[in-house]
This record gives sequence, C-alpha cells and structure tokens, in this order.
Amino acid sequence: MNVLVINGPNLNMLGKREPEIYGALTYDELVTLIEDTADALGIQVEVFQSNSEGEIVDRIQSAEQCDGIIINAGAYTHTSIAIRDALLVWSPGIPIIEVHLSNIFGREEFRKHSHISDIARGIIAGLGVKGYALALSWLAGEVSEGTR
Ligand code: DQA
Repeated sequence: MNVLVINGPNLNMLGKREPEIYGALTYDELVTLIEDTADALGIQVEVFQSNSEGEIVDRIQSAEQCDGIIINAGAYTHTSIAIRDALLVWSPGIPIIEVHLSNIFGREEFRKHSHISDIARGIIAGLGVKGYALALSWLAGEVSEGTR
C-alpha cells in the first residue's frame, strides 16, 4: 500500500510556529514520526510539503498510484478551490483523510470552513501530530480490507 501525505504552507515551520497551538515537534520530527508509523504498519509512505498552491496541485495530479491521501493543506484548506478540484480527480476512488493539528472548529471563524472536508472520507482535527498516525492506521486497516 502506498500513502501520500501532503503538508501545505507553513507546516515546515513546526516547532518554531505558534508552539502553543501547533506543538513543539519540528517538521523533521513529524516526518520521522510519519515514516516510523508507516514502517510499523507495513505501508509505503511519501511525505510531501510545499508552501506553494501550484506545487500541491501538481503533486495531487500525479497521485494516481496512491491507495490513500492524507492532507493537511494548512491555510489553503480555507481558501483553495484549486486543491479541492485536484483532489476531486481521485476522490472518492482514493480515500482522502483531512488532518489538522489544531481543532479548526474551535478557532477563528475563517478557519471553520474547509474546502476539503465534504470530499474527504474522514477528518481528524485537534489531536496534534497523532492525527497523522491515526489516519495512517485507519488507511492500513480499511484499504487492506478491500474498500478500494
Ligand atoms: C492547520 C490549521 C490551519 O487553519 C492553519 O492555517 C494551518 C495549520 C492545522 O494543522 O491545525 O496552517 O491546518
């Protein structure tokens, strides 16, 4: 099984960026956590990060071989119809899980709307970096049971 994890703008600043909201773990440590979790689950994972909307769209467009996509689009969650449209090329055939470190529904009004949530198979928000591990674990179980 191949899972693509996409992280959007400013997630590369984890550890330095508003640690009271996003935690103290650095981005490199998050990538290690994701890779170690995938190893333990016996799945292949690629972790992609970009601050650029177009690069994220390009990576999604070439996701045909993936069995699942985990996406934290950062602020593009709330603004990007282009990322939504790119995901719609594959969804619902490829399950998409939307992850947020913080609980976007408990913050500013502008974070409460996501252009991704209604096309995602599931959403995990507010559980910090463990959200990525939970998403991987769900995909490992669900996709291996032949839902795709
Ligand atoms: C975020 C929440 C977004 O509103 C914000 O713009 C981010 C991070 C999260 O993981 O909690 O960059 O996606």
